[in-house]
Amino acid sequence: MGFYERYILPPLLTCACGSKPIRYQRRKIVPEAEGRVLELGIGPGLNLPFYDPDKVKAVIGVDPSAELRGRAERAARQVSFPVEYLTTTAEDMPLDRHSIDTLVVTFTLCTIPDAVSALYALRPALKPGARVLFCEHGLAPDERVQRFQNRINPLWKRIAGGCNVNRDIPALLEASGYRVKHLETMYLPGTPRFAGFNFWGSAEVA
Ligand SMILES: C[S@@+](CC[C@H](N)C(=O)[O-])C[C@H]1O[C@@H](n2cnc3c(N)ncnc32)[C@H](O)[C@@H]1O
Repeated sequence: MGFYERYILPPLLTCACGSKPIRYQRRKIVPEAEGRVLELGIGPGLNLPFYDPDKVKAVIGVDPSAELRGRAERAARQVSFPVEYLTTTAEDMPLDRHSIDTLVVTFTLCTIPDAVSALYALRPALKPGARVLFCEHGLAPDERVQRFQNRINPLWKRIAGGCNVNRDIPALLEASGYRVKHLETMYLPGTPRFAGFNFWGSAEVA
């Protein structure tokens, strides 16, 4: 891992993912989580302040980034429910069958190299009827924006830690064996359109 990935990217990512419009998006879905929660790609733990402590028993965060773990641990000290950080990928995660009530995934499906395999691998850990709460950015509906997204993606991916701006999030969830139950979309205010088209809502195992 180079200097950029170790020292520059973690604060950059924490700052970009902590912008006001993104915090506003987090508030739309994270408080709905309940029970034993699995957060896919917990990163620096920016969702932790948005969980409802009266509804959440514990949050298990899975993320391969050892660089972001310290930030997540600091955020975990500010909340009243237990937070466990598993430094591994979703694909390699050791979780008991049917042990999770809610899967939360925010601004992560853009970055996981094989997001379909990662989501698919989590299915056995979810209890029957478990909710998947998601909020992600991705492929815009407007052709001009899409063209720009496809053009800039190779460069963007290199500077933004593997983030892709052109993933079709609902299609990706469906391809991973989930059924999208509720979906909302919009361009985030104050955010370039190529990076700011958001999808949020809920899904369940199909
Ligand atoms: C852009 S960050 C988003 C962090 C956080 N979810 C948020 O909302 O701020 C994407 C995260 O996905 C993590 N990630 C990448 N590949 C992963 C995988 N295979 N399994 C789990 N997490 C992964 C990265 O380490 C990074 O922390």
